[in-house]
Amino acid sequence: MNFLVLLHSYLRWILLILLLASIFKALSGMNGKKALTAGDKKIWLFTMITAHTTLLIGLILLFVGRIGFTNIPEGVSVMKDATYRFYLVEHPLMMLIAIVFITIGRGQAKKAIPDAVKYKKAFWFFVLALILILAAIPWPAREIGRPLFPSL
Ligand code: HEM
Repeated sequence: MNFLVLLHSYLRWILLILLLASIFKALSGMNGKKALTAGDKKIWLFTMITAHTTLLIGLILLFVGRIGFTNIPEGVSVMKDATYRFYLVEHPLMMLIAIVFITIGRGQAKKAIPDAVKYKKAFWFFVLALILILAAIPWPAREIGRPLFPSL
C-alpha cells in the first residue's frame, strides 16, 4: 500500500509536466494558423492516460489506504476531521472534476470542428484542470500536507 501512495504521489509530477506541455501545445495552435498535429494529439493522450492511472490508484487508496474508508478509526467523523475530510472528500472530488476536464479537453481532438476551435477548447479545459489540481494537491505547507518527494 505504501508503494501505491508513492506511485500516486510521483505520478503527480509526471501529470503536472504533461498537463503543462498540453497547455502550451493548445496555446500554440489557438491562433488558427496550425492544423492539429499527431504530436500534439499524442501529448494530450498521454496526459489523459496519466490522469486516469492516478485516478485508478487514488480510488484504491480511497477505499483501502491508511486513510481510506475501510480504515477510519472508531469515533472519527470524516467531515469534522480536517485530514479525513481532505483525503476522503475534498481531494478526490476536486481531482475527479479535474480528470473529467482533462478527458473532455483531450476529446476535442476527435471532434468534427475546426482545428483552431479544438485547440482553444482544449486549452481552457486543461487550464481549469490545472487550477483544480494545484488547489487539491496536499502541498507540504498545508495543514494536511505531505512531502513533495516521499520515500518508502
Ligand atoms: C490529478 C490527480 C491526483 C493527484 C495529482 C493526486 C496527488 C496526491 C498526492 C500528492 C497525495 C499525497 C501522497 C503522499 O502521502 O505522499 C495524494 C494522496 C491521496 N490521494 Fe490523490 N491525487 C490525485 C487524484 C486522486 C483521486 C482521483 C483520488 C480518489 C479517487 C485520490 C485519493 C487519494 C488518497 C485517498 C490519498 C491519501 C493516500 C494515503 O495517504 O493513504 N487522489 N494524492
